[in-house]
Amino acid sequence: LFGQVEPFAGDPILSLNDSFKADPRSEKVNLSIGVYTDENGRIPVLGAVKAGHERVGFAGRPYLPMEGHAIYREGVQKLVFGAGHPAVADRRVATIQTLGGTGAVGIAADFLAKHTPGRTVLVSDPTWENHHGLFQRAGFETATYPYWDSASRSVDFDGMIKALEAAENGSIVVLQPVCHNPTGVDLDERQQDAVTDVLIAKRHIVVFDMAYQGFGNGLDEDAAFVRRYAERASCLVANSFSKNFSLYGERCGGLSVVCRDADEAERVLGQLKLAVRRSYSSPPMTGGLLVATVLGNDDLRAQWAGEVGTMRTRMDAMRKRLADEIRALSNEVDVGFLLNQRGMFSYTGLSEAQVRAMRERDGVYLVGSGRMCVAGLNEANVPKVAKSFVEAAQA
Ligand code: LMR
Repeated sequence: LFGQVEPFAGDPILSLNDSFKADPRSEKVNLSIGVYTDENGRIPVLGAVKAGHERVGFAGRPYLPMEGHAIYREGVQKLVFGAGHPAVADRRVATIQTLGGTGAVGIAADFLAKHTPGRTVLVSDPTWENHHGLFQRAGFETATYPYWDSASRSVDFDGMIKALEAAENGSIVVLQPVCHNPTGVDLDERQQDAVTDVLIAKRHIVVFDMAYQGFGNGLDEDAAFVRRYAERASCLVANSFSKNFSLYGERCGGLSVVCRDADEAERVLGQLKLAVRRSYSSPPMTGGLLVATVLGNDDLRAQWAGEVGTMRTRMDAMRKRLADEIRALSNEVDVGFLLNQRGMFSYTGLSEAQVRAMRERDGVYLVGSGRMCVAGLNEANVPKVAKSFVEAAQA
């Protein structure tokens, strides 16, 4: 019956993570998947989340509504748009609880496929590989706009603007507003405003994918692009709590659609609920309750914001540590990129062959594109990673 089924080639991130787990070497280092580990190499349980868990306990488990917890959805709106944002105050934002950031982008793609079909979807070159897959699954063709300039190791801003201008009016444009995956380079404020002008003039439909809020400069700072954009135009915003709540396996995220008015938002919310019902019916409860409890309580929210700051500071410190270690080993390897990029990821410029050499020889795992997850670095593994990096870069 299924003889014609082709083997799965594997996912460039998740399958690599499986290979890491299966690697018997004790000194192996996982810098592949976007997961934050603490100084001891463990995925942290945040204090605010633990306190939230104690409050929530475990009671009956009815179905959640299709759109998710009301307090959770309110929390998403406040966190993403900021208290008092005009779109929220005007009740123009339709928000649902989703299965992580991936689920948010997936429902956004399903919603757009039904209501704005036949458009081209533009994603950055490079991007998180699943952006292509999620929009293609929904029936779209995907294309790219330039983003990474390998010579300057920064954003190819002119190329990006030109491509957005040249695209057919009303194209769907996926943007990562902060801590770009995989490159770690972001638009500055002036560039964000210039891109916004083009997007609005071209009537493009913007899908923001914000998976790392709080890992760049701060929870509010990181959302500034989205907030300014949403003051000027409609857009979709996917956000994730996997990283900033350290709740990867709970699949907690949100999808918000900024609409023209409250009536439109009501109808859009209805269609999002329908998309959820046809896909997985309603979101799961436990992780959602934790997030809702933390975001809905001033003290826990403040504690959580502090813990996000701790994770951010540690990642920045590890970038610096790795740069120092590499410099101590060699003056010939340029490490400026580590300090200019931010968030969980650094695009190292290493080739696939160099990445393979690090993995096979030293058990140091990066994604094949040369993406390094700096959130997996710690004092104990930095010297080994630096040595492996220098050897690969100079081979
Ligand atoms: C990553 O890019 O490593 C993370 O966002 C995990 C994932 O789902 O790919």
